Amino acid sequence: MANQEDIFKNIISHSKEYGFIFQSSEIYDGLSAVYDYGQMGVELKKNLREYWWKAMVQMHENIAGIDAAIFMHPTTWKASGHIDAFNDPLIDNKDSKKRYRADVLIEEHVAKIEAKIQKEVDKAKERFGESFNEETFRDTNGRVLENQAKIDSILSRFKEALEKNNLEEVRQIIIDCEIVCPVSGSKNWTEVRQFNLMFSTSMGAVSEESNVIYLRPETAQGIFVNFLNVQKSGRMKIPFGIAQTGKAFRNEIVARQFIFRMREFEQMEMQYFVRPGTEMEWYNYWKAARMKWHNSLGLGASNYRFHDHLKLAHYANAACDIEFNFPFGFKELEGIHSRTDFDLKAHEKFSGKKLQYFDTETNANYTPYVVETSVGLDRMFLAVFSNSLKEETLEDGSTRIVLQLPSVLAPTKAAVFPLVKKDGLPEIAQQIIEDLKWDFNVAYDEKDAVGRRYRRQDALGTPFCITVDHQTAEDQTVTIRHRDSMKQDRVKISELKNIIETEVSMKNWLLKAKN
Ligand code: GAP
Repeated sequence: MANQEDIFKNIISHSKEYGFIFQSSEIYDGLSAVYDYGQMGVELKKNLREYWWKAMVQMHENIAGIDAAIFMHPTTWKASGHIDAFNDPLIDNKDSKKRYRADVLIEEHVAKIEAKIQKEVDKAKERFGESFNEETFRDTNGRVLENQAKIDSILSRFKEALEKNNLEEVRQIIIDCEIVCPVSGSKNWTEVRQFNLMFSTSMGAVSEESNVIYLRPETAQGIFVNFLNVQKSGRMKIPFGIAQTGKAFRNEIVARQFIFRMREFEQMEMQYFVRPGTEMEWYNYWKAARMKWHNSLGLGASNYRFHDHLKLAHYANAACDIEFNFPFGFKELEGIHSRTDFDLKAHEKFSGKKLQYFDTETNANYTPYVVETSVGLDRMFLAVFSNSLKEETLEDGSTRIVLQLPSVLAPTKAAVFPLVKKDGLPEIAQQIIEDLKWDFNVAYDEKDAVGRRYRRQDALGTPFCITVDHQTAEDQTVTIRHRDSMKQDRVKISELKNIIETEVSMKNWLLKAKN
């Protein structure tokens, strides 16, 4: 069995070998935590974005999409709190000279204790079989209770330290937990310092303090400052949402784990403006709706879980993450936040412009509350890609690598092959491509033996391979091979469009999110 690290390395090398993701500026040895999407990756990413856009914008009459600029007036970030509070607590190991996020060191330490508990549970499950009651075991087993008490104590100290911005105490927790640097193995730590994550640049010809502008660290602020523009021009009535997808930038310190934590990434965000006092109802509504959306992709319900935030961001009164079981464990995929009226009020104050809504039902003017859903497009990509890459042992003992992407997201929906490069078969195959390409992204391949062509399309995640053979010329039929079952059916060329459509249609996939 390959270990987690090998599985992850395999994902990275597969994504490069098949044109999904390349390191940015690779010929110059790359730029850390910045990646380029290749010819296959760009299609998968586009399909993911569209899957989100369809579900969030086009399927909701009361949600409007926008595309705000990356650059915003610098006061935006003063108002939003990002200039003062968008920080990570950093700590350096004096021996290895490596820099870490203090909160991540503590969270990883807690995860290790959790893993010990899980090991005890798994062992007991095996020992007691059917009669095993996990809840009772967790409540009574000495070793589990001892470890759980350790976790509770660390987390409550950590929460208090964060709330009081007590960085000395954060360092003390690291010392008390005897956390060592993974590189040097030593406990020789510096003080903990706060580090602002925003990238800045200057606008105009003169580089002066007053010309400093920021690359947005979240797309949300472009929505807040346009709240009244959209509400008025779109005649929107509360509750309503504004959504957008776009680039965001963060000077991440611990930039590891491939596209999980990038310095330039893409977000898909939606702000839902609601009547004050109804925000918890909508918070719970969007938690459930977003989980359904994720589950519609069929990656397995047990691969997702909610995680309530220990420390609420400066703008939130409730917040949780949807975590996904990545190859390196459960980690944040999406954030759902009840952001109160913090942002609109702050923009009102800093801009001096009213950002209020007149509610014709209650005859009152108020600043709406906001529930936000925010998912990283690149993290979605990693979740889908890592979950889909499989190595299968076939009946004859040989193995195949297959990328079992949800077919709605597959970059290429069908590949068309002539069995041989003669006898008019390439021309028929090209004609099939001509007909299908209006509706689907399709590919033509005549190189190598058909078996090898199948393997290549399996590795690219293509749901269907269509082979044109000598019988095709006689009766207008082809074989269609299904990626996952490898089953082959003989069908009429005229049936192809329907067969593919049924399998890849966004409607059929999204309907699963409705049920
Ligand atoms: N507007 C709220 C907001 O930005 P967040 O939890 O900081 O909240 C939302 O970010 C989502 O953006 C995360 O759940 C994650 O999927 C994605 N994300 C955040 N930082 C990222 C990074 N450095 N690289 C890739 N994705 C990131």
